[in-house]
Formats: sequence, structure tokens, C-alpha cells
Amino acid sequence: METTSKQLIDRARAGGLAIPAFNIPYLPMMQPVIQAIVDADAVAFIESARLEWYKFEAKGPGPIATEFKKYAGANHVRLHLDHVPVVDEDDIYVDYLPIIQEAIALGFDSVMVDASRLSLEENIAATSLAVQIAHAAGVPCEAELGAVLGHESGPLPPYEELYTSGKGFTDIDEAARFSTETGCDWLSVAIGNIHGAVSGAQRDAKKVEARLNLDHLEKLSRATDLPLVLHGGTGIRKEYLREAMKRGIAKINVGTEIRQAYESAFREAGTVVAAQEAVYHRTFDYLSNDIEVAGKRSILTNERINA
Ligand code: 13P
Repeated sequence: METTSKQLIDRARAGGLAIPAFNIPYLPMMQPVIQAIVDADAVAFIESARLEWYKFEAKGPGPIATEFKKYAGANHVRLHLDHVPVVDEDDIYVDYLPIIQEAIALGFDSVMVDASRLSLEENIAATSLAVQIAHAAGVPCEAELGAVLGHESGPLPPYEELYTSGKGFTDIDEAARFSTETGCDWLSVAIGNIHGAVSGAQRDAKKVEARLNLDHLEKLSRATDLPLVLHGGTGIRKEYLREAMKRGIAKINVGTEIRQAYESAFREAGTVVAAQEAVYHRTFDYLSNDIEVAGKRSILTNERINA
């Protein structure tokens, strides 16, 4: 029997580890990212968000699933649908449930609904609908509470101001209520993390080095008793990542890091092959150095994950 995504995340959490999840904004990134995961003997998720087929070249859940199936080995990777927003980064309402239904029909192993731009009540209502659909198909559902900024096109407040004010951090009491009322499986939290920019000149800029409020994280973990997800994994120091994993982060999303490796190599060398090579090395390096033991198949489980 194949180990499910839910079981993998549960094992990671129990072991104080996390499953890395790599975003795919360009379809040719799929092969080198999966190859790097296999070569690092890691377990990881491959994920793609709606904005990656609107603002980049991932094309849609169908093309992502097709590309994934070409290279995926059950011992190393699972396919996750990242951010399907209810209100997107440009403040547009999205018909989100059909996107989630489509991904489930295509065989995605887990999905995410992101209603974090709505009020608590509306977030609970919208998330609950997505959770019901996912659970009816036996698929785990990630949700988000709090403001993980960065994808919006406007300028961000200075990072230090954002961090020290704690504005937008996931509220502890709200998180407890949210997890009980929605029944979501994994919760994306805001604890100082931000997403890498996806529009304007900032899209190519080096991402700010975010810090994490680890005490706040620990309280969220206790209040929800859920595996927590760290979005905006790019540019967070590994000391923080290591501590965050011990305090409840069981999945770490990494996008900008490998996207910029692909884009800059493509700009410089002008070929997809050169860009793929750059992505391979950056992903392998991230797994071997930045995140170290997290995601290591041999540590995550003594058996083959497919056994
Ligand atoms: P970064 O692009 O900052 O690594 O964030 C990725 C992410 O959280 C996708 O959901």
C-alpha cells in the first residue's frame, strides 16, 4: 500500500521533521526538481498554485499532473495543489471549488484552499466547503489563516515593521476555532514568513531574509494540534527552519528560490536545458544543505515509503 501524503506529513511532524514542497511555475522544472529529490534520497511534494498558471507558465492542473506522472516515482514524491484562493492576490473572487474538484479528479494527492483574505467567519465557511469535497475523495486539505503577504502586487511595508508589529500573524484563539470548525488537515500559518514577490521588478529581486516567531509557532501548534505549514520557505535561515520543524512545522513550501534559478539561467544561457540544470543543482543543494535532514527518506521512515 502506498504511504499517503497525510501519513507522510504525520510522520514528519512526529519526528520533528518537515516535508519540503517545491513549486513548479514552468513545466520544464518538473524533471530536474524530481531528479534532485530522488538523487538526494528525499521525500518531497511537488506543488503548483493557481497563480503559477496565470502569471507563469505552468499551464494548469492538467498539464502539471501529466508532467508529474512522466517522472514521478512513488518512493519519493507526491503531488499537491498549492494556493487555490477564494479571493486572489489581485482582489478578484475565484470560482475555487471547480479548480479543487478538477485537481482531485486528475489524481492530485492533496489540495489547498486559501480563504485567508476573507473574515474569519467567511474563511471558515469557504474552507469547510473545500474540506468536504476533498475528504469525500479521501484527499487531505490544507488551509490558511493569517496573512502570509508577498504575492500581492503593491509594495509591502518594511519587513522589520511587519515582523515586530506581529500584524497579520495567525491569531492563536482563532486558529483553535478554525481547526475545529473546518476540519482541515494542515494549516498554513503566518509567523513572520512572507512569500517571494510574483509581479513587477520585485519578482526578480533577492527575497528578504524573513525571521520566524518561534514562541508564537509553538502556541499555534498546541492550540490546533495540526501539522502546520510554512509558506515562503525561500530565504529563511536554516537555524530557523530546524527550530520550526521541532515546534510543529511539518511542510515547508519553497518557490522563489528555484524559480529564480531557472529564470536567471534561462536569461543568461538562453536554453531550457541550462535552466533545468540550474534548477537541479539549486534543488539538490537546498535538500542537502538548507533543509538538511528534513525530507530525508532514510530518516523519515526506515522502510521504503511505498512499502
Ligand atoms: P517562496 O516563493 O517565498 O519560497 O514561497 C513559496 C510558497 O509558499 C508557495 O506557496
